[in-house]
Amino acid sequence: MKISVIGTGKTGSKVVEMLGDNLAYAFDESNPPTLEKLKESDAVIIFVPGDAVKDILPKVLESGIPAAWGSTGFSWPDDLEDDVQKKKTKWVLATNFSLGMNIIRNAIEAISAGSEILKDPEFKIHEVHHVHKKDAPSGTALSWKEWLNKEAEITSAREGDVNGIHELTVSTANEKITLKHDALDRALFAEGAIWAAEQLLKNKNLTSGIYTFGQLFDFITKNND
Ligand SMILES: NC(=O)c1ccc[n+]([C@@H]2O[C@H](COP(=O)([O-])OP(=O)(O)OC[C@H]3O[C@@H](n4cnc5c(N)ncnc54)[C@H](OP(=O)(O)O)[C@@H]3O)[C@@H](O)[C@H]2O)c1
Repeated sequence: MKISVIGTGKTGSKVVEMLGDNLAYAFDESNPPTLEKLKESDAVIIFVPGDAVKDILPKVLESGIPAAWGSTGFSWPDDLEDDVQKKKTKWVLATNFSLGMNIIRNAIEAISAGSEILKDPEFKIHEVHHVHKKDAPSGTALSWKEWLNKEAEITSAREGDVNGIHELTVSTANEKITLKHDALDRALFAEGAIWAAEQLLKNKNLTSGIYTFGQLFDFITKNND
């Protein structure tokens, strides 16, 4: 299987590295994708900044190949689902391509349901990121709270070059549960994006259309025997 990559910056370069011989073409701003080269590829993974998506989107759509989009900060058009369906292809749009984060989502939902029987549980979420991160709390910490669906205090710390640590604790008077995710390397996003592109290609049970990363993850891990 030959996969092309659009955007070879901090994240896309990890995808290129990890694809090795399975790389079809690598495109960036100075070497933009062409319809012809995209059509020669089995699928494409995109990590361009949000403001570059509008330049690329028509070409990726026209090519009709499955696409795994990692770009954030872009408002996807309302009629995109129809357009992807018309091309009879499959796309995944992901704001976070961490496979581990999907496992965490399922774990947090289980903790949320199970904690119903605990006496006066206290929920806390703590996140740590590098000193250059401007927003706090992180979008991921907010997602954890949303998955938990409980009152939870979120605290943030900015230290050194930490990629991202998130920790949920559930405490009662007599016990404490801790769930921790530590992003060790940006390669984790490349790994998730490649996994997603492979699933779009090989999973015959997936119908045409657009999937979130969570939907794709759950479809593969929960529906396939
Ligand atoms: N979904 C996830 O899990 C995830 C994880 C990490 C990052 N992201 C997102 O992915 C995007 C990229 O992040 P990054 O940190 O890797 O960015 P980056 O280091 O700035 O790299 C951006 C790349 O996009 C290329 N590019 C820009 N405009 C282009 C255009 N019009 N046509 C073709 N290529 C173009 C750049 O090419 P040049 O080098 O030639 O300028 C560069 O190779 C951001 O939106 C970020 O938020 C998502």
